[in-house]
Amino acid sequence: MTYPVTRPRRLRRTPSMRKLVRETSLSISNLVYPLFVCPGTDIKNPIASMTDCFHLSPDNAVREAKEVAQLGIGAILLFGIPQKKDAFGTEASSPESAVAESIKRIKDAVPELLIATDVCLCAYTDHGHCGVIKDGRIENDTTCELLAKIATIHAKAGADIIAPSDMMDGRVGVIRKALDSEQLTDTAMMAYSAKYASAYYGPFRDAAGSAPSQGDRKSYQMDPANSQEAMREITADIEEGADIVMVKPALAYLDIIRMAKDTFKVPLAAYNVSGEYMMLNAAADAGLIDREPAILETLLSFKRAGADIIITYFAKTAARLLSYK
Ligand code: PBG
Ligand code: ZN
Repeated sequence: MTYPVTRPRRLRRTPSMRKLVRETSLSISNLVYPLFVCPGTDIKNPIASMTDCFHLSPDNAVREAKEVAQLGIGAILLFGIPQKKDAFGTEASSPESAVAESIKRIKDAVPELLIATDVCLCAYTDHGHCGVIKDGRIENDTTCELLAKIATIHAKAGADIIAPSDMMDGRVGVIRKALDSEQLTDTAMMAYSAKYASAYYGPFRDAAGSAPSQGDRKSYQMDPANSQEAMREITADIEEGADIVMVKPALAYLDIIRMAKDTFKVPLAAYNVSGEYMMLNAAADAGLIDREPAILETLLSFKRAGADIIITYFAKTAARLLSYK
């Protein structure tokens, strides 16, 4: 049946009618808010490349975590900034790193807030790559061992979720084995499974000081042209023990999110990355788009594409908008 019998506008007539037939909704409890933690005390330095984001010392990270929990957000994702960088990213696996310290203090202060930790070397290495370099090549297997060490430190400090973002082959399995051998069997893993070599990480790399000093990440992060390969990466991570898988970035990869949702029966996360965040902010700052509806529309698109979990720097703003609606 078609027009004039069928009139789709009937279901768009009033707000109540639109609500009744709405297919997708955003929920504050599925949002994950990334935080950047650094060594020291009483530090809250604005990150120049990312609006409303800060480098926080562990004491201030606790304050922020309390606010995040109060807004109803389910989890935070911690990124660490080291005191000192070296070829092996040594500080990443120190039990006294800013991340380890922050985990302990946040767990103490806000036990119900889930803590995920980004596990990678790039912010900790002097060359800025996500792995160890030998003879000009990123060494896969040596890197996996280091990542397992970092993950174990985070888990022992009390992290709920380990999130490896390096894109080395086999790292999920190596980390799972290391955790289990330390009886850390309850620590979950959210793998950055389909992580693309994207231009949208720019603002983050400024924030973390993690831009590679030479070359790029194309020998480990995925080619933006590929979707079947993303399915293979996700399959491998699930087989190796990933509890949650991720597609990153989100906005330019909505097709990959949908494909992953239709293919796999595990929780799926989408990472709304720094470049996407700042692109929207820049357009709003320029008066070109209306910030708040644009934020909600963007986050809703991830949900509609099939993401269960949304990692976003907009989490606090979105939580406020959603609770006043
Ligand atoms: C580190 C890491 C990156 C991001 C998350 N973890 C940067 C990169 O791979 O270069 C990007 C996050 C963002 O842009 O918001 N491996
Ligand atoms: Zn990295």
